[in-house]
Amino acid sequence: MKITVVGAGAVGASCAEYIAIKNFASEVVLVDIKENFAEGKAMDLMQTASLNGFDTKIIGSTNDYSKTAGSDIAVITSGIPRKPGMTREELIGINAGIVKSVSTNLIKYSPNVILIIVSNPMDTMTYLALKSTKLPKNRIIGMGGALDSARFKYRLSEALGCPASDISAMVIGGHSDIGMLPLTRLATRNSIRVSELLSHDKIEQIKQDTKVGGATLTSMLGTSAWYAPGAAVSSLVQSIACDQHKMFPCSVMLEGEYGLSNLAIGVPVILGKNGVEKIEEIELSEEEKSQLSLSAEGVLKTNDILVDMGLF
Ligand code: 2OP
Repeated sequence: MKITVVGAGAVGASCAEYIAIKNFASEVVLVDIKENFAEGKAMDLMQTASLNGFDTKIIGSTNDYSKTAGSDIAVITSGIPRKPGMTREELIGINAGIVKSVSTNLIKYSPNVILIIVSNPMDTMTYLALKSTKLPKNRIIGMGGALDSARFKYRLSEALGCPASDISAMVIGGHSDIGMLPLTRLATRNSIRVSELLSHDKIEQIKQDTKVGGATLTSMLGTSAWYAPGAAVSSLVQSIACDQHKMFPCSVMLEGEYGLSNLAIGVPVILGKNGVEKIEEIELSEEEKSQLSLSAEGVLKTNDILVDMGLF
């Protein structure tokens, strides 16, 4: 199983490290445009192999996509991260061109690849990759909801004073500070609804803290977070690589599902060897349906910028 990660920055390198430690891939190729940067990160990571007990071979490449040839899965993290006070949407001007050229380079050497998009604004970058590569929609997946759900579980576990592994919770909708939709109605602690364990006000606070989870860390770190994004991506990669058929909220092209079309946005999907094996259409409350459609309006508005940029 060969995995490429484009962008050897904090998110990409964390993703490569978690994939290696999980030891399901034979090879991970880290690509970056900065001379020798990916090669250095790969060498540093390989020097942890005897300590972390993995056999995965990690190599680095300075923008030489021939090294990525035959990749089964490729993760796109390249582009600039946000700075404190920025929205993810403000990154579109720089990141869109990068994502388009990286996607084109990847499929040139790996025509059967499954792409996972991380670069922000992620839902729009996923849409751009779909439109510019014309790959089948089951093979282009945006990672946002898995990260947002992990942050949601963290907030709930903090409030309940329990391990995050006790929590089941999901965030759907756009991967944006205002468009995210934590499904508080469905969240549980070991099958007990959290609405029976926490006050309404506390749950509303957790919902809000989840929505700005990325921005909160960006203000603390001075740049976007990387550990949880890297770990979230590695979970999606593993479900595909090992054909686990796990369910994650991922940004995928909708063609009528949830009453939405012609956009990629976070909904529950099953991930296996074919990428998106199935889009799960779950029952939403009227309030959740209207919040999802509002979130979709925001994503569609950002997608329109791509058209103005003449990117496809
Ligand atoms: C985040 O929410 C980078 O969008 C990513 O941290």
